Amino acid sequence: MAESTSNPLHPPLPDGIVPEEVVIRTEKRWLMIMLAMLAVMLAVIVVSAIMGALHPASNVEVIDPTTLHLQGEFVESNLGTAVEPDGSVTVRIIAEQYEFVPRCLQVPVGTPVKFRITSADVIHGFLLPDTNVNTMVVPGFVAEVRTRFAKVGDYVMPCHEFCGLGHHGMWAHVRVVPREQVGKPLERVTCATQ
Ligand code: CUA
Repeated sequence: MAESTSNPLHPPLPDGIVPEEVVIRTEKRWLMIMLAMLAVMLAVIVVSAIMGALHPASNVEVIDPTTLHLQGEFVESNLGTAVEPDGSVTVRIIAEQYEFVPRCLQVPVGTPVKFRITSADVIHGFLLPDTNVNTMVVPGFVAEVRTRFAKVGDYVMPCHEFCGLGHHGMWAHVRVVPREQVGKPLERVTCATQ
């Protein structure tokens, strides 16, 4: 500041005013810190997505939510777990205020499992803790998630998208059982058939 006092073009600044170059330097430093924070957060998202095999729902498949119960894949008799001819399993679920139908699903351990879920009313969320299963269930679309369960046990999960006054009571239940308990190809199973 001493040199600027001798320059008539740069009269001394009043007390409390920070010189422009100091402001610019400080702003640049904060900008760098902010960019570094953004880079760290982006890296966390990318690394956790890769490590956890998470990926955005990729299938865009539309369905008429008003006729789910009348025709097509999501009629009541077709819901639940179905064993495909190749031994893999497809699970069809309807999310609605305020339950997942069927309420309890049985799936085999160590087997490719494909969840197909749609909503009859508003947006719900389907999530199984400690797995890569985590999707929004949007009316008008079929959410599809593929996974494979490593160990037997029960996954009890709440709907994780606020869907109305009964949201907190909307739970689903996936029971992972030994392979031989899940029946023959094309046979449908629920927790009750165990
Ligand atoms: Cu369904 Cu919240």
